[in-house]
Amino acid sequence: MRRDTRSEDKTERYQVDMSNPYQQAYDASLHNPEGFWAEAAREIDWEKPWDKVLDGSKAPFYRWFVGAETNTCYNAVDRHVEGGRADQPAIIYDSPVSNTKRILTYAELQDQVSRLAGALAGLGVTKGDRVLLYMPMIPEALVGMLATARLGAIHTVVFGGFAPNELATRIIDAEPKVILSASCGIEGSRVLAYKPMLDQAIELSSHKPAHTVVYQRPQATAELKPGTDHDWAALVAGAEPHGCVTVQATDPLYILYTSGTTGQPKGVVRDNGGHMVALKWSMSAIYDIKPGEVFWAASDVGWVVGHSYICYAPLLHGATTVVYEGKPVGTPDAGAFWRVISEYKVSALFTAPTAFRAIKREDPKAELLRQYDLSSLRTLFLAGERSDPDTINWAADNLKVPVIDHWWQTETGWAIAANCMGLHHFPVKPGSPTKPVPGWGLEVLDESHQPCEAGKVGALVVRLPLPPGTLLTLWNADQRCHDSYFAEFPGCYKTADAGYIDEDGYVYVMARTDDIINVAGHRLSTGAMEEVLASHPDVAECAVIGVADQLKGQLPLGFVCLKAGVTKSDEQVIKEVVQLVRERIGPVAAFKTCTVVKRLPKTRSGKILRGTMQKIADNQDYKMPATIDDPAILDEIKESLETVGYAQARP
Ligand code: COA
Ligand code: AMP
Repeated sequence: MRRDTRSEDKTERYQVDMSNPYQQAYDASLHNPEGFWAEAAREIDWEKPWDKVLDGSKAPFYRWFVGAETNTCYNAVDRHVEGGRADQPAIIYDSPVSNTKRILTYAELQDQVSRLAGALAGLGVTKGDRVLLYMPMIPEALVGMLATARLGAIHTVVFGGFAPNELATRIIDAEPKVILSASCGIEGSRVLAYKPMLDQAIELSSHKPAHTVVYQRPQATAELKPGTDHDWAALVAGAEPHGCVTVQATDPLYILYTSGTTGQPKGVVRDNGGHMVALKWSMSAIYDIKPGEVFWAASDVGWVVGHSYICYAPLLHGATTVVYEGKPVGTPDAGAFWRVISEYKVSALFTAPTAFRAIKREDPKAELLRQYDLSSLRTLFLAGERSDPDTINWAADNLKVPVIDHWWQTETGWAIAANCMGLHHFPVKPGSPTKPVPGWGLEVLDESHQPCEAGKVGALVVRLPLPPGTLLTLWNADQRCHDSYFAEFPGCYKTADAGYIDEDGYVYVMARTDDIINVAGHRLSTGAMEEVLASHPDVAECAVIGVADQLKGQLPLGFVCLKAGVTKSDEQVIKEVVQLVRERIGPVAAFKTCTVVKRLPKTRSGKILRGTMQKIADNQDYKMPATIDDPAILDEIKESLETVGYAQARP
């Protein structure tokens, strides 16, 4: 039986085989976290060892490897050049949308990164300064992140699908000295000029960066303002290589903004030391990858998956990472992923289930897949949203490799639950990301904060301390961090996911407990969308819910009540609010459906019954809420939803 390592009074619930390396690692990580992670830390080069592995003096804000000195860029790049990997590909860039393929060896990466670091230093960037990146999926995005880390500065990468307004919010909060960008991104066959969006964001922002550096792409070149705008290639060509600046293990490496429950995103802060230790460990223990192998995370550098598994983890591990600029379908077809795997002998692919749903929809019989030699592929990893059993089964049947769902969050930086392929391969139960990963004291608590029995749904929380590599705090917002994650369940981190653990110790993640939705593996806040709708002059009241979607998992759907005296047609207002969300949040919000209703269903205390509306939209059974103010409104909502294709049996 698995022993609960954290408190004496809990029932022993799960079957455990102590000869299993996963179980040994899991138990060791919770019994003796300091010993466990100090051992893992031997894989990292430190300039000075730590004074203390774990400092809990400011709990719940724990710090790992206190007193140690290091540099992340050195560990991800230079030490591999020095250690015999100079000529090994570090980055494979494959871009069907620009017809480009390019390989950067570790030596070439070191040259580019150290020169860009020299250029940034020339622009005045020093330790602790922020550098913001607004970049498409090109190798220069990784070069920019690594160059920033080389200087001991802090990067903040903003996903290209966000609108100037969202970019401005992040510029205001992070106050970057320099912004790195590119002249354009390419979405399928559309070329999107980035510079006008960047200029607009800077215009909107109260903070003005001193410099912008723009990587000019031939598909659309940007006009540069003399003095503040610099051409990337020219700047790097004239720069001297810069060495690695020593930082404290506990110094911030990056800020990554993610959706909170309001329009103000949360700036998750990650450190240097703990982050390296955890990610390096995960490459062997979770992903079962050896240095020198090719690892492909088909995501975007703007998301946490891109930070951890396109950029840092594969490079810290001396593996080769793939930077793919394209879609799973349409660039040019649903065989795109199989071509990349066979061409570069990819050992493990990591992507979101939605990408597989898109491929399956285009090529249900997997005929394109059979045209490629996929013998290099050992494992498919899925994350970002719940993996539905159909998708898992389709992928497993056709790829004939284990399909491993794993669960994590921007805040955690790496997986909370997974089938740790380098430790022990448990049988897959479709719908479950398997077991808590070593380091994660995962529990399911009920409303009175008591542990739930096996199989009962409750709040998924993690006993503190969190393992290394997780969030340090929120940028400029310690109190918000405390209130969001540590206040509700004292001594625990609140994941804001609900779920259960079954009798075999398998974790099931069912739903968010807040207003976050997951659209095509992208995390979005319905609260932020409501703020935009509410700002429309004709809207009196509104609500946004996440409804089920066969391709993207979830989609946002809006309800608006119009102010008295509005003379515009409903269609016109809907068109305007849809456009407004696209302009303010960005195309990534995928907000396309909205309906006008006379009133919203509420409790007697005035709380909008979003959960009930979502169930009606998804044609699920629901109980009439006892506290509802006027039950007749639910019929009005149903009728209105039917006009936009919801609240009925869907294919
Ligand atoms: N820059 C600018 N616009 C972007 C963008 C970017 N980097 N990424 C997405 N967008 C735009 C899209 O073009 C689309 O615009 P449109 O409304 O004008 O068509 C919109 O944002 C919504 O994007 P998305 O939801 O991704 O839809 P899609 O139809 O373009 O692609 C999938 C659908 C399923 C193929 C795609 O979402 C996908 O590959 N998902 C996998 C996601 C993933 O890897 N997530 C990371 C977690 S592992
Ligand atoms: P993000 O911060 O964008 O990575 O989104 C994190 C959220 O995505 C989590 O809180 C979950 O709600 C959801 N999520 C991520 N991975 C999984 C998974 N494997 N299964 C279920 N939900 C997931």
